[in-house]
Amino acid sequence: MNKITMTTLKSMKQSGEKFTCLTAYDASFAMAQEEAGVEVILVGDSLGMVIKGQASTLSVSMDDMVYHTKNVSRVCKKSFIMSDLPFAADSNKEQTYMNAARLIAEGGAHMVKIEGGATMLETIRFLSERGLAVCSHLGLLPQSVYKMGGYRIQGRTEEEAEKILNDAIALEQAGVDIILLECVPVALATRITKALTIPVIGIGAGAGCDAQVLVSYDVLGLTQGTPARFVKNFLHDSHSIKEAFKRFVEQVKNGQFPAPEHTFN
Ligand code: KIV
Repeated sequence: MNKITMTTLKSMKQSGEKFTCLTAYDASFAMAQEEAGVEVILVGDSLGMVIKGQASTLSVSMDDMVYHTKNVSRVCKKSFIMSDLPFAADSNKEQTYMNAARLIAEGGAHMVKIEGGATMLETIRFLSERGLAVCSHLGLLPQSVYKMGGYRIQGRTEEEAEKILNDAIALEQAGVDIILLECVPVALATRITKALTIPVIGIGAGAGCDAQVLVSYDVLGLTQGTPARFVKNFLHDSHSIKEAFKRFVEQVKNGQFPAPEHTFN
């Protein structure tokens, strides 16, 4: 695998080749994922749950994110590293820029991911104009879990679906580089993916997206409680963690994952 850049990911979208993304929070997982051919490694604020044992992502701090991003970037030579802006690190455009700059300059990330749609447009424009690569996270927003009433599918009503689609289009026009869609119906995710020229990564959003992401602990069957519908345990039929990551890559690329049973209508 050559070094992955935004140019690589955009040309994969254009040629119709699916790409893959998994979360990593430490050097060993990041290395195994890179060796398995994972193009994008996400240092997600899901670390609040899978590393810190909290019920949500809300306790994750900027220092946590910088620490884990450093551990991942130190060993990655090829994968593209995306790192989450944690809860309350993006309350205005200047604060967001300074925090994003920390993830990139101190942490070694190549891109930052920010939750939210239309409300984040001005911030996205500000960051993009200053040369930062940004991913916008739409659909289910884990940092808004209490307002959303839980971890629930989004975009099922026509009004909600139109809002997510219009937000995605407006974010692309504002300069965002990737959209990540979480827990939306397959038809909506496919419509958004076709409407945009930038890549769309899905989780619980169906096979119509340009790429798939999962939390690595879910891929290895280490889900706390009942796994979500979109989760698949790839370790089940594998002999090692690296083989499980390889199977994830293979099954995304050959269209086997996600199957209809992993998606929402
Ligand atoms: O933090 C994270 O792991 C994420 C994924 C759920 C996409 O944002």
